[in-house]
Amino acid sequence: MSVLEALRRDAGIRARRAGGWLVARSGDEVARLAYRPWQDDPYPVYARLRRGGELGRSRTGIRAATGYRICDEILRDRRFGVQFTDGDVGGTRGLGFPPEHQPRPSLLQLDPPAHTRLRAVAHACFTATKVAGYRPMVERITERLLAAAATRDDFDLMADFAAPLPISVICELLGVPDVDTGRFAHYGRVLTTALGGVRSRRHADDIVEATTALDGVLERLIAERTEAPGDDVISALVRAAGADRLSADEVLATAELLLVAGFETTTHLIGNGVHALLRRPDQWAALVADPELAPAVVTEALRFDPPVQFTQRIVQERLELRGEALDPDTMVLILLGSANRDPEVFEDPDRFDLGRSRAVDPLAFGSGIHYCLGALLARLEGEVAFAALPRVLPRLEAAGAPRRGDSPVIRGFRSLPVRSRPVRRPSASKPAAAPGRG
Ligand code: HEM
Repeated sequence: MSVLEALRRDAGIRARRAGGWLVARSGDEVARLAYRPWQDDPYPVYARLRRGGELGRSRTGIRAATGYRICDEILRDRRFGVQFTDGDVGGTRGLGFPPEHQPRPSLLQLDPPAHTRLRAVAHACFTATKVAGYRPMVERITERLLAAAATRDDFDLMADFAAPLPISVICELLGVPDVDTGRFAHYGRVLTTALGGVRSRRHADDIVEATTALDGVLERLIAERTEAPGDDVISALVRAAGADRLSADEVLATAELLLVAGFETTTHLIGNGVHALLRRPDQWAALVADPELAPAVVTEALRFDPPVQFTQRIVQERLELRGEALDPDTMVLILLGSANRDPEVFEDPDRFDLGRSRAVDPLAFGSGIHYCLGALLARLEGEVAFAALPRVLPRLEAAGAPRRGDSPVIRGFRSLPVRSRPVRRPSASKPAAAPGRG
């Protein structure tokens, strides 16, 4: 790309961003979701949108599904897809990616029948039986990370635990050797900020750099597994390619999606869950007293502050919804974070409460044909983490202001400083004290 083209692209990106900001500032609640300060606490914006009806409208032409039922309904409705009717991948058009670096279509950006074929291959690695078998590995990694954190008074929950746990797990599953978890966490952050659109040329360059680096790692692995297959996920994808079920490009796109979707979101399940618990000391105390509450923490964290705040669908044919006509190619945001605070479905929804009924699943993993492929794995990681944390670090507390990440779509912390006052261990000469006291 010439310098002139690059400058034009940069100017275009900035103009679009500035235009969006003006719309947000003028009071457009849907547009506000992509801008600070609203992005940092979108829940009051969601509440206003829900009060305005189930199907919000932005001056930009984008619609927004605000309640639990309508979000679930659209995600299951095959008249909505993820691509525009001309085949353009929903959400990437106009986001500012350089033409040679348009995101490679992965599962998330494909409609049937291509989606069905790819999903069947990838699903085989994440069935309930397979995921149950990953538990000892997840426990081993969790114990190692927490043992290291426990030797220090202060640490960053994100950098020292919430990020390296899922990165190590998914890299082990994919067979990525010698992982530099800090570098991977950086790539994950950059790529998820891309979901909210490209903000500047520098941002676009960061995205290209992260994609190129990850592609390099994965291409090397794919070549190795083609030569010498193992029993990891990449080998399963390569075998499917050998049987003509996947193209070489699809193997790479699927591996890339599994890698990034596999850690960036789970990192924030753990971070957002710990943050909510530490702000409600009674709930943390309840978990310390009974680590069997760990699955309840996972479900309540997924509801209260879900890592994926929204996704989107594109109308495929003219249709009626809640008495309104929607034209083909209308984009509808599916506000998962709002659905999970819908008072029609969850009582006292703004309260983080481990005791609430778990009769209705939060919408954090989506619904319908794109329902999160890694939901069982994410739950397993969350359950292991939330059982181990109160056991190893029962006196965990906040130790400074957390810093939020930049993406409006993926909600979570960049850093979450915590402190864990040591638990005095009973010395050999004294009678044993009750655990967790001292
Ligand atoms: C707490 C953690 C996680 C959350 C909140 C989450 C959330 C989601 C959501 C909302 C979707 C649907 C998006 C849409 O419909 O547009 C999705 C899809 C997906 N997720 Fe997750 N996810 C998590 C963990 C994982 C993990 C651990 C993996 C990998 C092993 C993974 C892999 C995928 C894949 C491959 C898809 C695409 C499925 C398809 O299009 O058919 N996710 N996830």
